[in-house]
Amino acid sequence: MTYDLAYYKKSADFLLDKFGERPEIGIVLGSGLGHFAGELENPVVVSYSQIPNFLRSTAVGHAGEMLFGTVAGKRVVCMSGRFHYYEGYSLEELAIPVRVLKLLGIRTLLLTNAAGAVNTGYKPGDIMVIADHIKLSLGSPMRGANVEELGPRFFDMSSVYAPALRALALELAKKSPLTVHEGVYFFMPGPQYETPAEIRAIRALGGDAVGMSTVTEALTAAHCGLPVLALSVMTDMAAGVLPVPLTSREVIETANAIEKPFTAYVRDIISHL
Ligand code: HPA
Repeated sequence: MTYDLAYYKKSADFLLDKFGERPEIGIVLGSGLGHFAGELENPVVVSYSQIPNFLRSTAVGHAGEMLFGTVAGKRVVCMSGRFHYYEGYSLEELAIPVRVLKLLGIRTLLLTNAAGAVNTGYKPGDIMVIADHIKLSLGSPMRGANVEELGPRFFDMSSVYAPALRALALELAKKSPLTVHEGVYFFMPGPQYETPAEIRAIRALGGDAVGMSTVTEALTAAHCGLPVLALSVMTDMAAGVLPVPLTSREVIETANAIEKPFTAYVRDIISHL
């Protein structure tokens, strides 16, 4: 498969025709965080399976729809359902969604995810604004022929998570009932959760939270110069922190439990973008 500009443009042109307008902001909803899609006014809903050259959602807790509508007066495109490496996609395939969002015309990308708290000062239900990430496993979604129209072969990673957007999120956190931290997200490919020894290693390396998403999308955004704000919901204490096994049910339940304040927080952020 040749992933060139024409490949991504085919998906984007199909969506623009459905939406009738260009979105300003793109949002990717994480596991158990799909409720936010209900915030869109007058939504146009397109199933991923209708979009040419796109991927199909297989993960539990992910709807598999692209929605376009307004939130707080802003034109938003929302991916309800994301794609993960553990589903079997190649890293190159995982670049597709963000490249399509970029071609739709978004100027800000808001990523959300469910993550395990590695920092023992965090607790389930807390939020972490991602300041930076660590990905030591696997390659890059930008491996292979570079798409010059989108960005350079070698690209900067020193401020992927835009400082101004992080500052905005931390400022708005003051009026939210949520506890909001800022920290480092450590990517693990999954689908298994980590071992306690892996979590101790992640902590020693500087990770505050661990998860199986977001980083491929942030890398793709960095390549094409798209500012990113990423919010992690601490859905559980990572393996070994508590003497209990980790389940996906706990992840979804915690995400559901903070639905209302989290939705209000994200909405407030969007109104300021
Ligand atoms: N580890 C990895 N991914 C996760 C976790 C976790 O503890 N919680 C939610 N996603």
